[in-house]
Amino acid sequence: MSDRRQASPAPPTPYTPTLTRLVLPWPGRRDGGSLAACGGGREVFERPYVLLSCGTSIDGCLDDTSADRLILSNGADLDRVDGARAACDAIMVGATTVRRDDPRLVVRSVERCQERVARGLPATPLKVTVTGSGDLDPEARFFTLGDVDKLVYCAAPALVKARERLGGVATVVDAGPDGDLRAVLADLHRRGVRRLMVEGGQSLHTQLLGEGLVDELHLAIAPFFVGEAGAPRLVGAGRLPTDGRAELAEVRRLGDVVLLRYLFGR
Ligand SMILES: NC(=O)c1ccc[n+]([C@@H]2O[C@H](COP(=O)([O-])OP(=O)(O)OC[C@H]3O[C@@H](n4cnc5c(N)ncnc54)[C@H](OP(=O)(O)O)[C@@H]3O)[C@@H](O)[C@H]2O)c1
Repeated sequence: MSDRRQASPAPPTPYTPTLTRLVLPWPGRRDGGSLAACGGGREVFERPYVLLSCGTSIDGCLDDTSADRLILSNGADLDRVDGARAACDAIMVGATTVRRDDPRLVVRSVERCQERVARGLPATPLKVTVTGSGDLDPEARFFTLGDVDKLVYCAAPALVKARERLGGVATVVDAGPDGDLRAVLADLHRRGVRRLMVEGGQSLHTQLLGEGLVDELHLAIAPFFVGEAGAPRLVGAGRLPTDGRAELAEVRRLGDVVLLRYLFGR
Protein backbone atom coordinates (compact mmCIF):
# COMPACT_ATOMS: atom_id res chain seq x y z
CA MET A 1 0.00 0.00 0.00
CA SER A 2 1.09 3.56 -0.56
CA ASP A 3 -0.28 6.90 0.42
CA ARG A 4 0.21 10.62 0.23
CA ARG A 5 -1.56 13.64 1.60
CA GLN A 6 -1.43 15.99 -1.35
CA ALA A 7 -2.22 15.56 -5.01
CA SER A 8 1.48 15.93 -5.74
CA PRO A 9 3.09 14.73 -8.96
CA ALA A 10 4.78 11.76 -7.24
CA PRO A 11 3.79 8.54 -9.05
CA PRO A 12 1.71 6.06 -7.07
CA THR A 13 3.66 3.21 -5.55
CA PRO A 14 2.57 -0.12 -7.04
CA TYR A 15 0.18 -2.08 -4.85
CA THR A 16 1.78 -4.84 -2.86
CA PRO A 17 -0.05 -7.34 -0.67
CA THR A 18 0.41 -6.51 2.97
CA LEU A 19 -0.76 -9.56 4.87
CA THR A 20 1.56 -11.34 7.22
CA ARG A 21 0.58 -14.99 6.94
CA LEU A 22 1.07 -17.15 9.98
CA VAL A 23 -0.48 -20.45 10.87
CA LEU A 24 -2.03 -20.56 14.30
CA PRO A 25 -4.67 -22.80 15.85
CA TRP A 26 -8.20 -21.45 16.18
CA PRO A 27 -9.16 -19.27 17.99
CA GLY A 28 -6.64 -16.66 16.91
CA ARG A 29 -7.50 -14.16 19.64
CA ARG A 30 -9.80 -13.76 22.58
CA ASP A 31 -8.50 -10.67 24.28
CA GLY A 32 -8.92 -7.79 21.85
CA GLY A 33 -5.20 -7.91 21.12
CA SER A 34 -3.57 -7.55 17.76
CA LEU A 35 -3.92 -10.90 16.05
CA ALA A 36 -7.00 -11.97 14.18
CA ALA A 37 -7.89 -15.31 12.71
CA CYS A 38 -9.70 -15.60 9.42
CA GLY A 39 -9.98 -18.02 6.52
CA GLY A 40 -11.22 -20.86 8.67
CA GLY A 41 -8.96 -19.98 11.55
CA ARG A 42 -5.77 -20.81 9.67
CA GLU A 43 -4.68 -17.46 8.27
CA VAL A 44 -3.65 -14.85 10.76
CA PHE A 45 -2.51 -11.29 10.29
CA GLU A 46 -2.24 -8.24 12.44
CA ARG A 47 -5.30 -6.06 12.40
CA PRO A 48 -7.29 -3.89 14.81
CA TYR A 49 -10.08 -5.21 17.00
CA VAL A 50 -13.16 -4.55 14.86
CA LEU A 51 -16.40 -3.33 16.40
CA LEU A 52 -19.29 -3.14 13.98
CA SER A 53 -21.95 -0.71 15.24
CA CYS A 54 -25.29 -0.01 13.64
CA GLY A 55 -28.97 0.59 14.18
CA THR A 56 -31.78 -1.23 12.42
CA SER A 57 -35.55 -1.34 12.34
CA ILE A 58 -37.33 -4.42 13.72
CA ASP A 59 -37.20 -5.89 10.21
CA GLY A 60 -33.46 -5.43 9.99
CA CYS A 61 -33.26 -2.33 7.78
CA LEU A 62 -30.42 0.17 8.12
CA ASP A 63 -32.38 2.82 6.28
CA ASP A 64 -35.46 3.22 4.09
CA THR A 65 -35.55 4.07 0.40
CA SER A 66 -36.44 7.74 0.77
CA ALA A 67 -33.94 10.50 0.15
CA ASP A 68 -33.93 11.52 3.81
CA ARG A 69 -31.79 9.78 6.41
CA LEU A 70 -33.91 7.45 8.53
CA ILE A 71 -33.69 8.21 12.26
CA LEU A 72 -33.40 4.91 14.12
CA SER A 73 -31.68 6.03 17.32
CA ASN A 74 -32.90 7.96 20.33
CA GLY A 75 -30.98 10.31 22.63
CA ALA A 76 -29.77 7.60 25.00
CA ASP A 77 -28.58 5.43 22.16
CA LEU A 78 -26.80 8.31 20.44
CA ASP A 79 -24.94 8.96 23.69
CA ARG A 80 -23.98 5.28 23.87
CA VAL A 81 -22.64 5.45 20.32
CA ASP A 82 -20.70 8.59 21.22
CA GLY A 83 -19.08 6.73 24.12
CA ALA A 84 -18.21 3.80 21.88
CA ARG A 85 -16.65 6.16 19.34
CA ALA A 86 -14.59 7.83 22.05
CA ALA A 87 -13.14 4.44 22.99
CA CYS A 88 -11.88 3.77 19.44
CA ASP A 89 -8.81 4.78 17.48
CA ALA A 90 -10.64 5.04 14.16
CA ILE A 91 -14.15 5.04 12.68
CA MET A 92 -14.80 3.54 9.25
CA VAL A 93 -17.81 3.78 6.90
CA GLY A 94 -18.41 2.85 3.27
CA ALA A 95 -18.40 5.54 0.60
CA THR A 96 -22.15 5.26 0.01
CA THR A 97 -22.77 6.13 3.63
CA VAL A 98 -20.56 9.22 3.24
CA ARG A 99 -22.44 10.24 0.10
CA ARG A 100 -25.94 9.41 1.30
CA ASP A 101 -25.89 10.31 5.01
CA ASP A 102 -23.09 12.90 5.14
CA PRO A 103 -22.26 11.74 8.71
CA ARG A 104 -20.10 13.79 11.07
CA LEU A 105 -18.34 10.79 12.63
CA VAL A 106 -16.86 12.79 15.48
CA VAL A 107 -17.09 12.44 19.25
CA ARG A 108 -19.68 15.00 20.31
CA SER A 109 -19.28 15.07 24.10
CA VAL A 110 -16.81 17.74 25.19
CA GLU A 111 -15.93 15.69 28.28
CA ARG A 112 -15.13 12.62 26.19
CA CYS A 113 -12.99 14.70 23.84
CA GLN A 114 -11.13 16.16 26.82
CA GLU A 115 -10.58 12.69 28.28
CA ARG A 116 -9.10 11.54 24.99
CA VAL A 117 -6.79 14.55 24.79
CA ALA A 118 -5.70 13.96 28.40
CA ARG A 119 -4.72 10.42 27.32
CA GLY A 120 -2.58 11.88 24.53
CA LEU A 121 -5.08 11.02 21.80
CA PRO A 122 -6.69 13.28 19.22
CA ALA A 123 -10.02 14.65 20.49
CA THR A 124 -11.89 12.42 18.08
CA PRO A 125 -10.84 9.23 16.26
CA LEU A 126 -9.25 8.98 12.84
CA LYS A 127 -11.86 8.78 10.05
CA VAL A 128 -11.64 6.07 7.42
CA THR A 129 -13.64 5.28 4.32
CA VAL A 130 -13.32 2.87 1.39
CA THR A 131 -14.24 3.55 -2.20
CA GLY A 132 -13.99 1.78 -5.50
CA SER A 133 -15.08 4.75 -7.58
CA GLY A 134 -13.31 7.62 -5.81
CA ASP A 135 -16.56 9.56 -6.10
CA LEU A 136 -16.47 11.43 -2.83
CA ASP A 137 -17.14 15.12 -2.22
CA PRO A 138 -14.29 16.93 -0.46
CA GLU A 139 -16.97 19.18 1.08
CA ALA A 140 -18.63 16.21 2.82
CA ARG A 141 -18.64 16.47 6.61
CA PHE A 142 -16.48 13.35 6.71
CA PHE A 143 -13.68 15.56 5.43
CA THR A 144 -14.56 19.00 6.79
CA LEU A 145 -15.39 18.16 10.43
CA GLY A 146 -12.97 17.06 13.13
CA ASP A 147 -9.36 18.11 13.52
CA VAL A 148 -8.17 14.61 12.78
CA ASP A 149 -6.68 12.66 9.89
CA LYS A 150 -8.99 11.25 7.23
CA LEU A 151 -7.99 8.13 5.32
CA VAL A 152 -9.57 7.14 2.02
CA TYR A 153 -8.75 3.59 0.91
CA CYS A 154 -9.37 3.60 -2.81
CA ALA A 155 -9.29 0.73 -5.28
CA ALA A 156 -6.37 1.15 -7.67
CA PRO A 157 -8.37 1.92 -10.85
CA ALA A 158 -9.76 5.12 -9.29
CA LEU A 159 -6.68 6.09 -7.32
CA VAL A 160 -5.49 8.93 -9.55
CA LYS A 161 -8.94 10.48 -9.70
CA ALA A 162 -9.41 10.16 -5.95
CA ARG A 163 -6.06 11.75 -5.23
CA GLU A 164 -6.81 14.64 -7.54
CA ARG A 165 -10.16 15.20 -5.89
CA LEU A 166 -9.37 14.43 -2.25
CA GLY A 167 -5.62 14.80 -1.92
CA GLY A 168 -5.99 18.17 -0.19
CA VAL A 169 -8.36 16.93 2.51
CA ALA A 170 -7.36 13.32 3.12
CA THR A 171 -4.67 10.72 2.79
CA VAL A 172 -5.65 8.57 -0.19
CA VAL A 173 -4.31 5.03 0.11
CA ASP A 174 -4.05 2.37 -2.58
CA ALA A 175 -6.40 -0.45 -1.56
CA GLY A 176 -5.38 -2.80 -4.35
CA PRO A 177 -7.15 -3.74 -7.56
CA ASP A 178 -10.52 -4.54 -5.95
CA GLY A 179 -10.34 -3.00 -2.51
CA ASP A 180 -8.82 -5.59 -0.24
CA LEU A 181 -10.36 -5.10 3.21
CA ARG A 182 -7.86 -7.39 4.91
CA ALA A 183 -5.06 -5.26 3.55
CA VAL A 184 -6.96 -2.14 4.65
CA LEU A 185 -7.18 -3.47 8.21
CA ALA A 186 -3.54 -4.52 8.17
CA ASP A 187 -2.57 -1.03 7.01
CA LEU A 188 -4.68 0.57 9.74
CA HIS A 189 -2.92 -1.61 12.30
CA ARG A 190 0.43 -0.46 10.99
CA ARG A 191 -0.76 3.12 11.44
CA GLY A 192 -1.43 2.43 15.10
CA VAL A 193 -5.15 1.69 14.99
CA ARG A 194 -5.87 -1.00 17.59
CA ARG A 195 -9.64 -0.57 17.93
CA LEU A 196 -11.71 0.19 14.86
CA MET A 197 -15.40 1.06 14.89
CA VAL A 198 -17.24 0.33 11.64
CA GLU A 199 -20.48 2.28 11.25
CA GLY A 200 -22.01 0.94 8.04
CA GLY A 201 -23.34 0.41 5.60
CA GLN A 202 -24.68 -2.91 4.37
CA SER A 203 -21.90 -3.56 1.87
CA LEU A 204 -19.13 -3.05 4.40
CA HIS A 205 -20.92 -5.14 7.04
CA THR A 206 -21.42 -8.03 4.63
CA GLN A 207 -17.83 -8.09 3.47
CA LEU A 208 -16.28 -7.78 6.92
CA LEU A 209 -18.55 -10.37 8.50
CA GLY A 210 -18.08 -12.69 5.52
CA GLU A 211 -14.33 -12.43 5.80
CA GLY A 212 -14.42 -13.19 9.53
CA LEU A 213 -13.06 -9.73 10.29
CA VAL A 214 -15.59 -8.62 12.91
CA ASP A 215 -14.94 -9.22 16.60
CA GLU A 216 -17.96 -7.50 18.10
CA LEU A 217 -21.35 -6.30 16.89
CA HIS A 218 -23.42 -3.57 18.55
CA LEU A 219 -26.90 -3.88 17.12
CA ALA A 220 -29.41 -1.25 18.24
CA ILE A 221 -32.96 -2.12 17.24
CA ALA A 222 -35.51 0.65 16.86
CA PRO A 223 -39.19 -0.12 17.54
CA PHE A 224 -40.66 0.11 14.05
CA PHE A 225 -40.70 -1.63 10.70
CA VAL A 226 -39.50 -0.25 7.37
CA GLY A 227 -41.08 -2.89 5.19
CA GLU A 228 -39.48 -1.86 1.89
CA ALA A 229 -37.91 -4.49 -0.33
CA GLY A 230 -35.23 -2.12 -1.59
CA ALA A 231 -34.11 -0.84 1.81
CA PRO A 232 -30.53 -1.64 2.88
CA ARG A 233 -30.36 -4.37 5.51
CA LEU A 234 -27.89 -5.12 8.25
CA VAL A 235 -26.24 -7.48 5.76
CA GLY A 236 -26.84 -8.37 2.14
CA ALA A 237 -26.55 -11.64 0.31
CA GLY A 238 -23.12 -13.15 0.52
CA ARG A 239 -20.86 -15.25 2.66
CA LEU A 240 -21.64 -14.78 6.34
CA PRO A 241 -20.34 -16.46 9.51
CA THR A 242 -23.03 -19.17 9.54
CA ASP A 243 -20.84 -21.85 11.13
CA GLY A 244 -21.59 -21.13 14.76
CA ARG A 245 -23.38 -19.05 17.35
CA ALA A 246 -22.11 -15.66 18.38
CA GLU A 247 -21.75 -14.97 22.07
CA LEU A 248 -24.52 -12.70 23.32
CA ALA A 249 -22.50 -10.50 25.65
CA GLU A 250 -25.12 -7.93 26.60
CA VAL A 251 -28.74 -6.88 26.23
CA ARG A 252 -29.39 -3.26 27.21
CA ARG A 253 -32.56 -1.24 27.13
CA LEU A 254 -32.11 2.39 26.07
CA GLY A 255 -35.60 3.85 26.20
CA ASP A 256 -37.47 2.31 23.28
CA VAL A 257 -34.28 1.02 21.64
CA VAL A 258 -32.65 -2.27 22.59
CA LEU A 259 -28.93 -2.85 22.25
CA LEU A 260 -27.68 -6.35 21.53
CA ARG A 261 -23.94 -6.84 21.91
CA TYR A 262 -22.50 -9.93 20.22
CA LEU A 263 -18.96 -11.29 20.24
CA PHE A 264 -17.56 -13.39 17.38
CA GLY A 265 -14.68 -15.83 17.12
CA ARG A 266 -15.02 -17.10 20.64
N1 LIG B 1 -28.54 2.44 10.46
C1 LIG B 1 -27.24 2.54 10.51
O1 LIG B 1 -26.63 2.34 11.57
C2 LIG B 1 -26.49 2.87 9.27
C3 LIG B 1 -25.13 3.13 9.33
C4 LIG B 1 -24.46 3.40 8.15
C5 LIG B 1 -25.13 3.41 6.95
N2 LIG B 1 -26.45 3.16 6.93
C6 LIG B 1 -27.17 3.12 5.66
O2 LIG B 1 -26.57 2.15 4.82
C7 LIG B 1 -26.79 2.54 3.47
C8 LIG B 1 -25.48 2.42 2.73
O3 LIG B 1 -25.10 1.08 2.68
P1 LIG B 1 -24.48 0.50 1.34
O4 LIG B 1 -24.31 -0.95 1.50
O5 LIG B 1 -25.25 0.99 0.20
O6 LIG B 1 -23.09 1.24 1.25
P2 LIG B 1 -21.77 1.34 2.17
O7 LIG B 1 -21.41 0.02 2.75
O8 LIG B 1 -21.91 2.51 3.07
O9 LIG B 1 -20.73 1.75 1.05
C9 LIG B 1 -20.54 0.93 -0.07
C10 LIG B 1 -19.51 1.59 -0.94
O10 LIG B 1 -18.25 1.57 -0.22
C11 LIG B 1 -17.22 1.30 -1.15
N3 LIG B 1 -16.67 -0.01 -0.84
C12 LIG B 1 -17.28 -1.04 -0.18
N4 LIG B 1 -16.44 -2.06 -0.07
C13 LIG B 1 -15.30 -1.69 -0.68
C14 LIG B 1 -14.06 -2.33 -0.91
N5 LIG B 1 -13.83 -3.58 -0.49
N6 LIG B 1 -13.11 -1.66 -1.57
C15 LIG B 1 -13.33 -0.40 -2.00
N7 LIG B 1 -14.48 0.27 -1.83
C16 LIG B 1 -15.45 -0.39 -1.18
C17 LIG B 1 -17.84 1.36 -2.52
O11 LIG B 1 -17.78 2.74 -2.84
P3 LIG B 1 -17.93 3.37 -4.31
O12 LIG B 1 -19.38 3.30 -4.63
O13 LIG B 1 -17.41 4.76 -4.17
O14 LIG B 1 -17.09 2.52 -5.21
C18 LIG B 1 -19.24 0.89 -2.24
O15 LIG B 1 -20.18 1.26 -3.22
C19 LIG B 1 -27.33 3.94 3.48
O16 LIG B 1 -28.71 3.91 3.21
C20 LIG B 1 -27.10 4.40 4.90
O17 LIG B 1 -28.09 5.31 5.35
C21 LIG B 1 -27.15 2.91 8.07
